Amino acid sequence: MAILFQITGLVLFLCLQVRADIPAQKDFKPDKITGKWYSVAAASNCTEFLKMKDSMTRPIILFQNEPDNSLKCSIAYMTPKGCQGMSFSYKFVSEGHYTYTDPRGNTAVTFVGTDYTSFALEFAATVPKNGQKIIMIKLYGREKSLPKDVRDQFEKFVFGFGLNKHHLIYFPDAEECVPGTF
Ligand SMILES: *[C@@H]1O[C@H](CO)[C@@H](O)[C@H](O)[C@H]1NC(C)=O
Repeated sequence: MAILFQITGLVLFLCLQVRADIPAQKDFKPDKITGKWYSVAAASNCTEFLKMKDSMTRPIILFQNEPDNSLKCSIAYMTPKGCQGMSFSYKFVSEGHYTYTDPRGNTAVTFVGTDYTSFALEFAATVPKNGQKIIMIKLYGREKSLPKDVRDQFEKFVFGFGLNKHHLIYFPDAEECVPGTF
């Protein structure tokens, strides 16, 4: 069971990798993306994600600037066993584009659009060594929910990659776990 709970959070991040060919938010300002976000929704064609998504609760994300231009991404989420968390160091590639490496390979992350104060749309892609490309699209909110027009834009973006509503989840409420506080 412990492994199952780990996977719940991990699939959000480990199902990914590479391809920085998605345009990033113009003049992306890393210092303004910092702080706490709710992971309001996510969509992916990662098999593990699709199996787990309906049992997942809404994670909390914390972005922090690091001295070398990288962006530390910490994630925390509630499980029946309590708060769990992990963090990743997004290395700077170019404005709005980052990459990080983990045992599964390299992940390319693009901040596709954000107004910094209410929503942020993050795209990530993986090309596994012996598998098909996998994508993960996440909608972050400074609040737990986002207005319909933002959700509609997110869905339009998601559907543009050939995904449908079965690849997508708006995470249900959970007791909050804030990265760094447990
Ligand atoms: C996931 O979606 C991307 C983008 O449409 C596509 O290139 C890829 O083949 C898909 N992967 C799987 C496993 O369906």
